[in-house]
Amino acid sequence: MRIVLVGPPGAGKGTQAAYLAKNLSIPHISTGDLFRANISQGTPLGKQAQEYMNAGELVPDEVTVGMAKDRMEKPDADEGFLLDGFPRNLSQAKALDEILAESGIALDGVLDLEVPEEEVVKRIAGRRTCRSDSSHTFHVEYKRPKTEGVCDECGGELYQREDDSEETVRKRLEVYHRETEPIIDYYRSQGLVVTISALGKVGEVTERAMSALQRQA
Ligand code: AP5
Ligand code: ZN
Repeated sequence: MRIVLVGPPGAGKGTQAAYLAKNLSIPHISTGDLFRANISQGTPLGKQAQEYMNAGELVPDEVTVGMAKDRMEKPDADEGFLLDGFPRNLSQAKALDEILAESGIALDGVLDLEVPEEEVVKRIAGRRTCRSDSSHTFHVEYKRPKTEGVCDECGGELYQREDDSEETVRKRLEVYHRETEPIIDYYRSQGLVVTISALGKVGEVTERAMSALQRQA
């Protein structure tokens, strides 16, 4: 299956993607995680991305599209993938169409996670992220690590992402409404969108997502 996951910052895309990718046996491709890995390795791409991310702005398409394409071309993505955080504006959506068309493949569905803004603020304020692998995320209230400050999955140190400050979250939400929401209509006109509520326990949202995707397939 080839799926795009869309939703505001803090909706739980990364959390759900980890479970969905496992259930569907496809890789979880998060452009945010790829950027953060490049930043922690000090690569030129990481250096280019960092200031945009810290400001809550989108990293330019020229950088993002090439990185996403390279990742989608890895052999583990031959049978499908779950894209998390890409595409994030209409020009990226069109670039993705071209990438897929070159290989004669198409998307199976776009899963849209809906969550009220006050819940987003609570989820992001309490999020703690693993320094060794930013796909490992926790929450001070909703998903506490066994040992405070330590990642359950790899023992890495937990920290608060620099772009999770209240001011930057507000900026990220503004960018989401302006740049990213239009892609939902773009995909809706192609009959690809399923919208589910991202409220409730993590497992409940995963069940909702799995049954929505099965209906879509
Ligand atoms: P990215 O890393 O993609 O950030 P985001 O889209 O803002 O999403 P988040 O990671 O903040 O949230 P999430 O929805 O994954 O929520 P999570 O599962 O962690 O992008 C960061 C930046 O990179 C962008 O601002 C941009 O600069 C750049 N970038 C990335 N992609 C780009 C692109 N394509 N083009 C240009 N720039 C790009 O959950 C949040 C918290 O809630 C966690 O603590 C979790 O434990 C908790 N939680 C999850 N589910 C539940 C639940 N059901 N109940 C209670 N708590 C829950
Ligand atoms: Zn970890």
